[in-house]
Amino acid sequence: MKLADYKATLSFSNNSPSMEMPVYEGNIGPDVIDIRKLYGQTGMFTYDPGFLSTASCQSAITYIDGDKGELLYRGYPIEQLATQCDFMETCHLLLYGDLPDAKKKTEFTRLVSIHTMVHEQMQFFLRGFRRDAHPMAVLTGLIGGMSAFYHDSTDITNAQHRDISAIRLIAKLPTLVAMAYKYGIGQPFMYPQNKLSYSGNFLRMMFGNPCEDYEVNPVLERALDRIFILHADHEQNASTSTVRLCGSSGTNPFAAIAAGVACLWGPAHGGANEACLNMLEEIQASGGLNKVGEFMNQVKDKNSGVRLMGFGHRVYKNYDPRAKLMQETCKEVLAELGLENDPLFKLSMALEKIALEDDYFVQRKLYPNVDFYSGIVQRAIGIPVNLFTGIFALARTVGWIAQLNEMIGDPEYKIGRPRQLFTGSVRRDVPPINQR
Ligand code: ACO
Repeated sequence: MKLADYKATLSFSNNSPSMEMPVYEGNIGPDVIDIRKLYGQTGMFTYDPGFLSTASCQSAITYIDGDKGELLYRGYPIEQLATQCDFMETCHLLLYGDLPDAKKKTEFTRLVSIHTMVHEQMQFFLRGFRRDAHPMAVLTGLIGGMSAFYHDSTDITNAQHRDISAIRLIAKLPTLVAMAYKYGIGQPFMYPQNKLSYSGNFLRMMFGNPCEDYEVNPVLERALDRIFILHADHEQNASTSTVRLCGSSGTNPFAAIAAGVACLWGPAHGGANEACLNMLEEIQASGGLNKVGEFMNQVKDKNSGVRLMGFGHRVYKNYDPRAKLMQETCKEVLAELGLENDPLFKLSMALEKIALEDDYFVQRKLYPNVDFYSGIVQRAIGIPVNLFTGIFALARTVGWIAQLNEMIGDPEYKIGRPRQLFTGSVRRDVPPINQR
């Protein structure tokens, strides 16, 4: 961390002595005030629920400029990565800090592909779930369960264990997501085929069956690969912070990633793509384009509790760059499948147009986020709505691991332990039961 050439002074109106605090500069983005000595020197905490102004760590992985609508992985703009690289290159970049050359790319891709199979016993573990279980419930269990299957890579303090668990998680997530899907629909599991690309192999495990050859459609393969790239990391979001906090206790990497999956499930985070598609389907069922105006009035009515899912973001106060790329992919996939007139796509374009011109959204700087179009793409590919967040988890796994490993390697890392402002009862005595 680089010290800035100025300091912050905190003064109090009750005559308590003021305090000077160091300021650190990032390479880009806001400077941070180092408040670590605040409690020791003043006996006070800071109060910032939701971390609106709190940097929880230093990181060199992903940078977002929410006002510009810019997303960089290790300095590279997401637009360039999505159009010039594939997911394996992106994984290499996030994990090791740089894009691989051709030789390293082949080696890395090979390393991932030879770890795609899961322990045979995992299918029996999976069979313990109800067939109608939500895939995110299944995935949280299966990924947490990996720590029971891969004992030789559970020591988070051992760099070799961290390397192996990283590759295992990236390689096996597609297999587990596809197994969760096949189990739900009662079809046999498909073993991975390592000669296929990462996303091609996933498509085959999802939609192939043992009785027929499966031919990977290159447009869908590329679309899925792009979904994976766009979701691979997003700095200190809720699930990544969960992974870091969970890992900060020294728990094993599989347990920490399972915690991230559980967090991602929520509709305000990764669950938004599922919620967004359900929303579009509901509007369509209630009258489609004719009902858009009525729906938008509900969204703007604070008492209705209705939000325009796939819109708004804590950090982006401009167009989410991922949404633009996803809209492009959406058009390509729909054209490939002859679904150019897909009513949900038309509906989403109409909603976006109205929202971008409406004062409510303009004033609050609410723009489409990545989930606004990703659901339509996934649905067109044939992925069921309740698996959308599972696909997101698959893609985000590399980001979670990169962030977890960065934290473990940071000499300043400590167990995460936030403080609180206590507003409950002061000390009191337990009354006898007949006096309560
Ligand atoms: N529809 C309608 N109004 C909205 C929306 C929305 N989607 N999002 C925010 N607003 C309004 C809020 O009501 C609030 O209005 P107010 O100032 O009049 O009270 C204002 O915009 C600010 O919203 P907050 O909820 O305070 O913003 P916050 O940063 O806490 O929330 C969030 C961000 C959770 C993403 C929010 O925009 C939202 O719920 N969006 C819909 C869900 C969604 O798409 N999530 C995906 C996020 S991206 C991802 O995880 C990949």
